[in-house]
Amino acid sequence: MPWWKNAVFYQIYPWSFIDLNGDGIGDLAGIESKLDYLESLGIDALWISPFFRSPMKDFGYDVADYRDVDPLFGSLDDFTSLLAAAKDRKIRIILDLVVNHSSDQHPWFVEARGSRSSPRHPWYLWVDDRGSAPNNWKAVFELGSAWHRNVATGERYLGTFTRHQPEFNWRNRELREAIYGVMEYWYERGVDGFRLDVATAYIKDERLRSNPFSALPVPDFFQKHLYDRNRPEVHEIFREMRERADRHGERVLIAEPYGQDAELASSCYGTHDDELHLAFNFDFLLQPWNAASFRHAALRWYDALPAGAWPTLTLSNHDQPRHFWRYRGRTEAESRARAATAAALLLTLRGAPFLYYGEEIGMTCVRIKRRRLRDPLGLKTWPLAHVGRDPERTPMQWDSGPQAGFTRAGTSWLPVNPDHDRKNVELQRADPDSLLNWYRSLLALRRKSSLLRCGGIRFLELDPRLLAFERLPDGACREEGSVRVLLNFGSREIRLPDQPGGRVLLGSRRESGAALDPGVLTLGSYETLILDVAGP
Ligand code: GLC
Ligand code: CA
Repeated sequence: MPWWKNAVFYQIYPWSFIDLNGDGIGDLAGIESKLDYLESLGIDALWISPFFRSPMKDFGYDVADYRDVDPLFGSLDDFTSLLAAAKDRKIRIILDLVVNHSSDQHPWFVEARGSRSSPRHPWYLWVDDRGSAPNNWKAVFELGSAWHRNVATGERYLGTFTRHQPEFNWRNRELREAIYGVMEYWYERGVDGFRLDVATAYIKDERLRSNPFSALPVPDFFQKHLYDRNRPEVHEIFREMRERADRHGERVLIAEPYGQDAELASSCYGTHDDELHLAFNFDFLLQPWNAASFRHAALRWYDALPAGAWPTLTLSNHDQPRHFWRYRGRTEAESRARAATAAALLLTLRGAPFLYYGEEIGMTCVRIKRRRLRDPLGLKTWPLAHVGRDPERTPMQWDSGPQAGFTRAGTSWLPVNPDHDRKNVELQRADPDSLLNWYRSLLALRRKSSLLRCGGIRFLELDPRLLAFERLPDGACREEGSVRVLLNFGSREIRLPDQPGGRVLLGSRRESGAALDPGVLTLGSYETLILDVAGP
């Protein structure tokens, strides 16, 4: 079985993890200094958001050199050292490959925009500038047209995010080979794979047709995105990437689909296990806090996947409000209880979990003053709270010190959440009942139980307020028995008659190892109970 089917991934936003050199911005040497922490947490792989050379118009999602580290984060040597140190601890590293577009400062684009006859010109997408845009496609972070003027050539180029992110022409063979060359370069350095930024958007409609009307408001601009993303021709690229990745042995390719439904996510795998290994499913990430929504979303996801495809599971990332904040209850204690249930959900459902830095201590979103906003989307949409993405990108909270132990500088690139004096790694490490230690226990249990890692799944309909399922032997996962997971999504007790007995593997309200008699089982408020029901 490939390693990534057994792995738990942890996303680091390098700006915000830890700053070692004291400039207020996280760095690669900082990440290396925290490998002990990550190892003791129990994760298997890191996905590091972009740290390549960039003018940072979209905080690194606008790359000016795919083969070098931006000096803000350190050097190529720092990366080599991080990679080796992570390997020593058996932690894999996945890079974030942003190749739907480059930065407008990338030498390829600088050359391309200079003249229509430049060899790089066909690597990007152009139309003659006839005074208006050729269609209704929008730049999502600018709220205007996606077609930007280029005076030197009398044309407009496509940039679906900002004008500083010109889109590649993936129909061009030379461009494709140049990108594959970049991937090769990192494979050879030993990276374990890539997360492919907006992968389903690489190809646009050949005839550049306008999108039809849709009732979905901003950021979908009342458009159904039929023509500016998710075109069928993209699958040919996925197959080419897969074939090249597999030549290097166990590397993993993870798609970020540009859309929120399970079908789009599942399409990235291909129907013959010949496209991308994994894809995020944002349908799952956007569920409201109740057991039924999650059960339906999980079933939709599992049903949508082609045979043999491995699901992913994720609740937070750098583009969405943190789930601690989304699922918050009436009190901090209730929010904390929900976060513990959410963690159990993420780490026991069938699939590869992706954690987002800080979720293990219950980091939440905070409203950021206008003068401290950094995200281009946030600046455009201010004062709508939490529409921009800065609130989920605040510095990791290591301790109760002035900048939460993130930096020794007097200030950090984004403000630290003032709750860091109560919520941080140092405090939670020392508290056996902390969320951090709950994550560690769940991760440790997952390591021990191949049923939890790769078993099959069967949902149980015991009570509508409860998410209940069993993990069973399946295919390559031959461990005997069955693990039963019961997650109470609410604050009321749930009484279940006629339950089988078992042994507690892990519980939020019970001792591990305790025996449970068959009969009535009463689950407390937000209780998580993970049982081995194989026993006599
Ligand atoms: C992806 C990234 C997001 C970025 C955008 C443009 O959605 O996750 O952060 O702004 O692509 O690259
Ligand atoms: Ca730094």
